[in-house]
Amino acid sequence: MTDQPDQSAQGTAAPPSGCPAAHPDAVPLSGLEYQQTPFQLYRALRRDHGTVAPVVLDGGIPAWLVLGYAEVSYVTSHDELFARDSRRWNQWPAIPADWPLMPFVGYQPSVLFTEGAEHQRRAGVISAALEEIDQLEFSQDCQEIAGQLLAEFAGSGQAELMSAYAHALPMRAAVRMCGMPLEGADTDELVEDLRMSLDASEGDDPVAAYVRVQERIQRLVAEKREDPGPDVTSRMIADPAGLTDEEIVQDLISIIAAAQQPTGNWIGNTLRLLLTDDRFAVNVSGGRVSVGQALNEVLWLDTPTQNFIGRWAVRDIQLGGRQIRAGDCLVLGLAAANTDPQIWPEGHVGAQVNSAHLSFSNGEHRCPYPAPQLADVIARTAVETLLERLPDIVLAVEPEELTWRPSVWMRGLTSLPVAFTPVV
Ligand code: HEM
Repeated sequence: MTDQPDQSAQGTAAPPSGCPAAHPDAVPLSGLEYQQTPFQLYRALRRDHGTVAPVVLDGGIPAWLVLGYAEVSYVTSHDELFARDSRRWNQWPAIPADWPLMPFVGYQPSVLFTEGAEHQRRAGVISAALEEIDQLEFSQDCQEIAGQLLAEFAGSGQAELMSAYAHALPMRAAVRMCGMPLEGADTDELVEDLRMSLDASEGDDPVAAYVRVQERIQRLVAEKREDPGPDVTSRMIADPAGLTDEEIVQDLISIIAAAQQPTGNWIGNTLRLLLTDDRFAVNVSGGRVSVGQALNEVLWLDTPTQNFIGRWAVRDIQLGGRQIRAGDCLVLGLAAANTDPQIWPEGHVGAQVNSAHLSFSNGEHRCPYPAPQLADVIARTAVETLLERLPDIVLAVEPEELTWRPSVWMRGLTSLPVAFTPVV
């Protein structure tokens, strides 16, 4: 870490040139390069625009992309200056109700959008409920889920791992955590609706999917009030903080969504690295150390949440030499920050073994303790169990044929076809 972000509170009258929309060189935050080569793209953006770049979101809506490690750290650790409640946004008059990013930024009364003492209350209940999970038992649950999923395709000698395994496993783990049934049409529907509401493809209706997710979780909370069990939902209901049913529903959706999507992509991106990179190929089947290294390397170089929207400026302020106006939106460039040349001066990104990356974000709203450890249990168990059960697994396509999902927010593969000796 070298440079410090440039930040100083300013008066309220920001010059018009401070608005990201006023920048003729504002970069569209969309396009193929984000899916294929984000690492080079973020470096080029940083070179051309500095550590805080003016960007244009879908529909021409302006925002700032925070690219520097120091700047992302600063923004996330000063929630009194860069807050989480999206209703602060000065662009709402320009945003249509059916805007594609609405599932990410449309205000919901969940932990995600709370601030200050209210956030501490809500996040405290989540942490306390997650903390009671016995990580050894949870790892055994994940092994059991992995076994069930593997049983569905191990005999065929081929599989598409993203849908059959990488996304399915964290979903079932989250479902078990919250006390929902492990299998069944109900659960399958919920997963599909979560996928649509978080990362819609063409033809999906994310708003309708989100309504169905809410209805299913409302039923779960009602069931657990009647009949509590050793699960996250029951513990949140029983917490002395006294959350309302509506608050619990909102926060359970945040927990399940947060557990499923990024952990699924973490597993997929790690399997891709293990199956395509010679450094791991030599001992891929037995190499527990290598699995740990690959998981960590992915968090540095192919992080599942490459960009996160976001934070909203509480008042006019300078950041990275840019004039930010009160109510401007800042997108956290987590992938860009992890590969910031200021923290990798020699350019050999990836050799790092520590976990100082920003993949779980930072500060008050970071992925709450102990969620990153639970995510690690899920991802590590998923990868290790697969390699143990299918030791000669190989890619069924050339590495260059693998494609990334069309999202600038998440980094994950569209599919991961593999082949192996059938196991009965
Ligand atoms: C068991 C799995 C997981 C659970 C239960 C979980 C839970 C959560 C929750 C509840 C939040 C909202 C925190 C708040 O606003 O106060 C959150 C935020 C977040 N999580 Fe996780 N998460 C999981 C896995 C992951 C993974 C694998 C990643 C990426 C590698 C990740 C990255 C993030 C990020 C970037 C945020 C946003 C933080 C911010 O606003 O600064 N999470 N997570």
